[in-house]
Amino acid sequence: MSILIRGGTVVNADHMVRADVYCADGAVRAVGDAIEAPSGARVIEADGLLVMPGGIDPHTHMELPFMGTVASEDFFTGTAAGFAGGTTSIIDFVIPGPQQNLMDAYRTWRGWAEKAAGDYGFHVAVTWWDETVHADMARLVHEEGVNSFKHFMAYKNAIMATDDILYQSFARALELGAMPTVHAENGELVFQLQQALVAQGVTGPEGHPRSRPPAVEGEAAQRAIRFAEVLGVPLYLVHVSTRDALEAITQARSRGQRVYGEVLAGHLLLDDSVYLNPDWETAAAHVMSPPFRPAEHRDALWRGLQSGNLQTTATDHCCFCAPQKAMGRDDFTRIPNGTAGIEDRMAVLWTHGVGSGRLTAQEFVAVTSANAAKLFNLYPRKGRVAEGADADIVLWDPAASKTISVATHHQNVDFNIFEGMTVTGLPAYTLSQGKVVYAQGQLDAVRGAGRYIKRPAFNRNIGFGGQA
Ligand code: URP
Ligand code: ZN
Ligand code: ZN
Repeated sequence: MSILIRGGTVVNADHMVRADVYCADGAVRAVGDAIEAPSGARVIEADGLLVMPGGIDPHTHMELPFMGTVASEDFFTGTAAGFAGGTTSIIDFVIPGPQQNLMDAYRTWRGWAEKAAGDYGFHVAVTWWDETVHADMARLVHEEGVNSFKHFMAYKNAIMATDDILYQSFARALELGAMPTVHAENGELVFQLQQALVAQGVTGPEGHPRSRPPAVEGEAAQRAIRFAEVLGVPLYLVHVSTRDALEAITQARSRGQRVYGEVLAGHLLLDDSVYLNPDWETAAAHVMSPPFRPAEHRDALWRGLQSGNLQTTATDHCCFCAPQKAMGRDDFTRIPNGTAGIEDRMAVLWTHGVGSGRLTAQEFVAVTSANAAKLFNLYPRKGRVAEGADADIVLWDPAASKTISVATHHQNVDFNIFEGMTVTGLPAYTLSQGKVVYAQGQLDAVRGAGRYIKRPAFNRNIGFGGQA
């Protein structure tokens, strides 16, 4: 199957040019002027469309077992919903339980992911420590193509990585040429504040942000950054949601530290008023960690993205339906944490980023695709439209418009945090591995067509971190 994309404007992070793009056997074979369509090739007329690398969402949790339930979106439905929004690759998380062998957990997640329609990789969480974890990190890097390890500084009594674990794991990651990443919230403070609020009779979703104030994130971000500084290892902070954490990142970068930050579409668009909604189900549907923040943090996050101190955008796509959220009806600490967004990330970022003048089209490509590919060593196979790259491409129609709704989205969840938002700028076509998987509203995702993509370790002498 070959496809000629004719007459579009190719937008890469570093370059924008009107060109044809020819794809065959899953890869981009040529980018240039007036490419002749070989016989049998399908021709897509792309006049007026932007030809961009498919989105990479570096933070998803498909079918995650979490807080006593399992996320409703699986690897097939989730990657398919991604196609409908122009996202063609994800990096999900293997999260071993306390004392669970890392390799066993990794194999379990690989099994679940076999149904994925789009390409995927895994960060592996380090949730405990002993000699087997030390050894398995090397196996994961050298044999399995895992080059990033996740540390949850929150979720005490579950998957929280304490300071001793951070130290051991960051040091090991440095030896292996892998990137440590952190969910930065002080888990002890969250735990104590939760107990205090419940004891005071605060049991509803409004307790969620009150138990996780911005300083809780700022402290953990600063601590992780200082650990990384002392050890000389790069660090990637997932879902940065506060000015406090952003300032810690910005200061570290100005000291010359290789520290990178990811921001979620939700944190850029919503604020903490959602937790005061008198409808319990609506308020609970927004419970995710870190919580949505007062508006001044949202404004700071946009500035962080514009200034380059935040490099990537993600969704933390982790879906729980109303009956699952209801597990916390009498106690907000039991509401499964997570919200959806893989289908909407690119459209809301285009609308509120490019549409508002905060980002250029090239910067949009950088923050939705190229920078994640660089930081996690997928580049230029992913994150770029160029000869030899995977033909994961979105043909973007900057004039197309729709109103986001749970009634029409493809995500396997009964709520949409962007409900009612009108977006302008949408995918007209999405290609995965050179095949059209979404065209003008029609999904054609194939269960199991996605591939596990190995991500080689960095050579710490010549290229560790620092690419984005
Ligand atoms: O609320 C969230 N974010 N749930 C998924 C787990 C995590 O912290 O990323
Ligand atoms: Zn997290
Ligand atoms: Zn997450």
